[in-house]
Amino acid sequence: MPTTTSDSFFIATPIFYVNDVPHIGHAYTEVAADALSRWMRNSGIDTWFLTGTDEHGQKIMRTALANGVEPKEWADRLVEQAWKPLLTTLNLANDDFIRTTEERHESAVQKFLTLLHDKGFIYQGEYEGFYCVGCEEYKTPADLAEGTDEFEGQKVCQIHGRPIEVLKEENYFFKMSDFQEQLLELYRERPDFIQPASVKNEIVAFVNRGLEDLSISRSNIDWGIELPFDTTHVTYVWFEALLNYITATGWGSNEEEFARRWPAVQLVGKDIARFHAVIWPAMLMAAGLEPPKNVFAHGWLLVGGEKMSKSKLTGIAPSDITDVFGADAFRYYFLRAITFGSDGSFSWEDLSARYEAELANGLGNLASRVIAMLHRYRGGVIPDPSAGTGAAEEALRSVMTDAVTKANEAMHSFAIHEALAQIWRIVEDTNGYLTEQEPWALAKDDANADRLDAVLYQAADALRVLALVLHPFMPNSMSALWGALGQEGEPSDQVLLDAAVAGGLKTGTTVLELPPLFPRIEQD
Ligand code: MSP
Repeated sequence: MPTTTSDSFFIATPIFYVNDVPHIGHAYTEVAADALSRWMRNSGIDTWFLTGTDEHGQKIMRTALANGVEPKEWADRLVEQAWKPLLTTLNLANDDFIRTTEERHESAVQKFLTLLHDKGFIYQGEYEGFYCVGCEEYKTPADLAEGTDEFEGQKVCQIHGRPIEVLKEENYFFKMSDFQEQLLELYRERPDFIQPASVKNEIVAFVNRGLEDLSISRSNIDWGIELPFDTTHVTYVWFEALLNYITATGWGSNEEEFARRWPAVQLVGKDIARFHAVIWPAMLMAAGLEPPKNVFAHGWLLVGGEKMSKSKLTGIAPSDITDVFGADAFRYYFLRAITFGSDGSFSWEDLSARYEAELANGLGNLASRVIAMLHRYRGGVIPDPSAGTGAAEEALRSVMTDAVTKANEAMHSFAIHEALAQIWRIVEDTNGYLTEQEPWALAKDDANADRLDAVLYQAADALRVLALVLHPFMPNSMSALWGALGQEGEPSDQVLLDAAVAGGLKTGTTVLELPPLFPRIEQD
């Protein structure tokens, strides 16, 4: 059963730390959320796609100071010069972009804290233990490893491999332990709440081992949102960052908007699934709010077998790829080549090979050939297929119908790679159909005119359906294809599943010229 069937769809990415510029791991989360939200929006569902930046905390404060500027100035610089430009680089159609330094966020966070404090879920205590600034996370001894090389003899964070800090400070705590049973009940009642199953199992086991209360304030730093009931403390960065999903959608200021949007599908990397599937729903339960609709954890992009990261110097800038291959190929490649929910290795060779085989030779060549034949044999006008249609056309039409249905089911279950695989059946079968029907041979004898009409119509109609269903993945090139097929406006002006039915192309439509959708790339 599809997981997301209700009449509204709100999808949010994590908000990104502004200590550094984006790499392709961040871009992966963004393009996945964008393709899902475009699919839902194009399907006529009331859709909201939220992304943004996480700007408080020690990590950003330290980076700013190391660069000789105030944290806010640093954040402004990174947001304007790197994070907002990423939206254009990847051609994202986000509906909102939240920064945690915005007033709308800060005031709603304080309201939330006051609410939990008034309800008795926040108390003062002492935190004594470990903290990793890289993760911005409190650590238990089990989370640590023995350092190697320059950190020999020290305890380090398992993720960052760098020494952790030892903290002993007066903090405020959130009574997270109160929610252990309710969380386990949530996981039991809604088996799809956390996906994929591997991540779900790990989280259920973690909560089963017992939850501790969570320190939610820091008194030794000042780059953060002050606690409304004790201004000598700032809010722990994760506690306020998680709240962005509701502070950006009207909680505490516009209840009507909030009711329309919430709950969200939370798309996260698996490294931060625990924050979203344990702490976040517990916070919402404490406030009397609904938990998220789903927490879907995607895998990591690996480079050389390891999680790609800037700190390990394996980071690749998204524009390194889009400058050569374009935004559409970037989006297609990562969504097609990696099973959504599993890790995937990135390599330039694989990207080039798929670009060549699937985009340039597969889809691009199909589109060019069909449009060129319509010009050559039918004066650029879509012919009437009715007299010549037969079994081969019926067979292709049924593949189109089946592939669109299955792609839609896959998108509603977050199986983005599977949706693309289904859609590619149309590309491959249309190519195979042309090879078998040989319209270039039919064109040699006027006695075959009806058959040629049917074949050209059928291939052009398949392209029209492809432009519609591939538009969420490759908006630029599919708009170009749509226009070349003589269709008005944009594919996104149509209600996706109503329009993507076989036979929707109007006889008599004039087609235009189509420049190569995926030009050959000079390899050096
Ligand atoms: N600021 C927090 C999230 C707060 S949400 C309330 C954060 N930021 S992050 O910038 O470090 O990471 C954001 C997202 O990028 C995460 O989902 C993370 O999993 C993803 N990725 C970072 N490196 C990645 C790869 N190498 N591969 C895939 N995704 C990766 O965490």
